[in-house]
Order: sequence, then structure tokens, then C-alpha cells
Amino acid sequence: MVNGRGAEGQGSVGARFPRPETSEMNTKEMMVTEKKRTGILGVGKYLPEKVLTNADLEKMVDTSDEWIVTRTGIKERRIAAKDEAASDMAVKAARCALNNAGLKPEDIDLIIVATITPDMFFPSTACQVQHKLGIKKVPAFDISVACSGFIYGLAIADQFIKGGMYKRALVIASEKLSAITDWEDRSTCILFGDGAGAAVLSQVDKGGILGVNLGADGDKGDLLQLPAGGSRMPASKKTVEDKLHTIKMEGNTLFKHAVKIMADAALAVANPLGLKGDDIDLIIPHQANLRILNALAKRMGVDPAKKVYLNIEKYGNMSAASSAVALCEAVEEGRIKRGDTILMDAFGGGLTWGALIIKW
Ligand code: COA
Repeated sequence: MVNGRGAEGQGSVGARFPRPETSEMNTKEMMVTEKKRTGILGVGKYLPEKVLTNADLEKMVDTSDEWIVTRTGIKERRIAAKDEAASDMAVKAARCALNNAGLKPEDIDLIIVATITPDMFFPSTACQVQHKLGIKKVPAFDISVACSGFIYGLAIADQFIKGGMYKRALVIASEKLSAITDWEDRSTCILFGDGAGAAVLSQVDKGGILGVNLGADGDKGDLLQLPAGGSRMPASKKTVEDKLHTIKMEGNTLFKHAVKIMADAALAVANPLGLKGDDIDLIIPHQANLRILNALAKRMGVDPAKKVYLNIEKYGNMSAASSAVALCEAVEEGRIKRGDTILMDAFGGGLTWGALIIKW
């Protein structure tokens, strides 16, 4: 039926469904919207066993625990095993989320994986996850949005569920950043780690996603990139020698953009809902740098110690997986309770950003 609607829509770009006119109809529409919100039924995570501490990094590059902790807030990060790829971690996080939701893999009818470290270019990591979970036929695709990927994934699933096309979506963020890190570059290797987080989404009667703000700024793509391995610069002996298959970052410039982007995205989603810093019970941010998150809290007018969930100290920056794992741990630790208003907020390579408010 939805496909039919799409076909009808061809050639009628810009067409809009008529809006209800009377106040009575507006109330009814609001009630329907309220009923059809998308919520999170379960969350899950997976962190690889191996811990790489700042002391370990001191032996690898010219750095110190003191510098890393002061400049970033990171004390250690997880590193996936050699034979452990993004889909392996994704499947473990997904099983955890399904278990938390009390559902089975066959209950899922949409799979979205956010990753910039897919097992390979194709087939997608989502297809491999589908196969490993033994789910048949359902659509599965990857999204490449860097650190904002989990929030984009939630927003996409929300649209599919609200539109009625799918009932239960699995949104996973899985990253093996250790595979694309230059372990001789002290300005980047101290930041990143590996891990995966997942959420199961469905229509809910109470609460759910209240609003989303997504965006991108492609002209700042050069600030954070993996230059080689794509169609512009296919892999060659030279690209490997020049380490062009590892993350290149202009950390300082990114830092300044990050604070503004995250604050603007948060306000862009909160303001139309009439929500202020005080109305938010917990902010689950992308864990890029403790100083960025403290600056964000200041701009939002909230106490970072009380209202910003932090696990950067344990895991570093896991790109899209950071906010997914943070959400899962906040639930596990009882920091999120029924009825709480949660703001998720991320920025990353692209540049991209995403902020989402959900009533739990
Ligand atoms: N250990 C010790 N010194 C280091 C170092 C390390 N690991 N990395 C860099 N330095 C040095 C630099 O060489 C520089 O030395 P110099 O002054 O002699 O040239 C000095 O520390 C300051 O470097 P700078 O890059 O200005 O530091 P910073 O305060 O901006 O911190 C980051 C660097 C990367 C921690 C910070 O910029 C950051 O977190 N940026 C955002 C990155 C990010 O979020 N990326 C992902 C986006 S999702």
C-alpha cells in the first residue's frame, strides 16, 4: 500500500496531503500522532574484551596519560580482536537489544546499520547482520553518517514505522575504528575505540520520539576523512605507504565546530517542542571529547555532572557506536526512567549532525 502511494506520487513532486481545517480535526490529528509515536523497546551493546589504556599508548607514541586525560577525558578504550569485524560486534549488540525488548530476530522487519567501518564495501554490514541473525527477506542497509549515524538510523526507522511500512526495526551502530587508525599518529590514535550498540524500535502507546533534527555541511568534509580506498583514490601500494587508509583529522578546527553544531542541533529540536534545558532529564551525547561535552552543557544551561551521560573515560570515541552504547548503559544504570525526556545529540565527519528527543 505504501509502495502504491509512492508510485502515485511520481511526477507530483511537492504535493502535500491536505491539512485538517477545524480545531476538532486538529485535536483528532494530534491524538493519532500521539498514538503513533515510535519508541525504543530494547537496547543492547557489545564492547570487545581488549582494553587499551593511556599507559599502553605511552609506549606506542609520544604522549602521556596526563595529556590525554586533560585534553579529552579518555582513560582507556576497547580494541576488537583481529578476526572481529563490524558485523560480528553488531550481531552481539543486536542480540542484546532483542533480548532486552523480549523479542526474537524473526520479529524484526527492518535492519539499519550505521557504520564507517563496514566489514567490506559490499555486501553491506546490515545484510551480513541479517544473515547471521537468521532473519529472512527483510530489508537491510547501511548508512554512512560517521558519528551521527545512530541518530540518523533512529530517525530513518521512525519514519518507516510512522509511515506504516514496517513494524519493528533494529537500528545498530557498530565501529571498528582501530582498523582505520594510524597507530603512529598521536593526534588521532588516542581518541578512538571499537564497540557496538543497538536499539529495537516499534510503535508505542506512550512516550516515544518527540522530535528530530538532522543536518549536514559537506563543505567541511575535509576536516575528518579517510582519503583512500574509494573510487576517487583506489587502494594502491602508494596509498598504503602514505597511510591514506587511516583517519585524517583537523582536531582543533573540528573542536570549535563541534560545540556550536551540537548546541545548535539540540536547540533546533528542543525549541519547537517548547522544551528548555530544565525539561531535559538526561542528555546522551556523542562521546568525542569531555571538553566538548562540558561546553555543550554550558550552552544548554544544564549541570554536566547531573544531566550529561558520560562514558568517554572507558571507551573513547567509537563514532556512531558511542551514542548507542551510551544510551544502553544509561538504561542499564537506571539513569533513564519511564517518562523521562532524553536528548540524544551527535556530530561527526561529513560534517553531519543529529539531535533527537525521546520520551522514555
Ligand atoms: N600527546 C601529547 N601531545 C599531543 C598529542 C598527544 N596525544 N596530540 C597532539 N599533541 C600536541 C600537538 O602536537 C600540539 O603541540 P604543539 O603546540 O607543540 O604544536 C599540542 O599538543 C596541542 O595540539 P592541539 O591539536 O592544538 O590540541 P587540542 O587541545 O586541540 O587537542 C584534540 C587535540 C584532538 C584532543 C582536540 O582538538 C579534539 O578533541 N578535537 C575534536 C576531535 C573530534 O571530536 N574528532 C571526532 C569528531 S566526531
